[in-house]
Amino acid sequence: MSSRKSLICANWKMHALPVGWDAADSPYRPEAGVDVVVFPSFLHIPQCIEAKLNIGGQCGRPEPHGTFTGDVSMKMLKDIGCTYVLCGHSERRRKHGETDAFIAEQVVAALEVGLLPILCVGETQEQRKKGHAEQTIKKQLSTLPVFLFQRATSNELTSNIVIAYEPVWAIGTGLNALPDDAQTMHAFIRSLLPQDAKESTRIIYGGSVTNLNAADFLAHSDIDGLLVGGTSLDPEKFSVIVECALKHVNMA
Ligand code: PGA
Repeated sequence: MSSRKSLICANWKMHALPVGWDAADSPYRPEAGVDVVVFPSFLHIPQCIEAKLNIGGQCGRPEPHGTFTGDVSMKMLKDIGCTYVLCGHSERRRKHGETDAFIAEQVVAALEVGLLPILCVGETQEQRKKGHAEQTIKKQLSTLPVFLFQRATSNELTSNIVIAYEPVWAIGTGLNALPDDAQTMHAFIRSLLPQDAKESTRIIYGGSVTNLNAADFLAHSDIDGLLVGGTSLDPEKFSVIVECALKHVNMA
């Protein structure tokens, strides 16, 4: 039985608060057996903190402050009360030109200010068709140890990283990876981790997760949680996903 605590994330992207949002009675609230974390737009973070939710930033710059118009730093996210931050979401890689090296810097900066980074990796449809899915993920993970070992050497730091496997072709398309295929990729990712972080690192799946497929993903031994985009904006459907995670904990 895995000792890794399930992590269920609601990535609201550039959307307002969900319709039907009720801070007093919402599936986004923290749960005892499962980490439920919400990633609102920067503008909505204060409201979510007031509602006592666990909050993550959708991205953050490594520099603590400076001439970066429109950006927010890891330190600012930590200071306002975030606990997690997404690093290298495929929408940031594609639409904002974030590179593996820059993403690794974000991960290190997040760890240094005390945030838990969720490093997102995933292959495109084309890379998968060519049989390059595994080598793509390996490359996306490969810059990480260099930065970690240069700037943050303790094992404790490496085991505070969460990895999100999010195949690009599955994000926002309604075409989720087959849970068995996701499990295979998660096991592969785990095999690449440093020995002392293999067991403790949480690897979560994202890409068209819904209330209907969440349980199938969570049933797999190397899938430690879910990063949910579109469906997380529907409180009723998201509550089913949280329920699935809680049931899974109770069964273990
Ligand atoms: P999706 O998004 O659930 O809408 O596919 C997931 C994500 O982008 O993190």
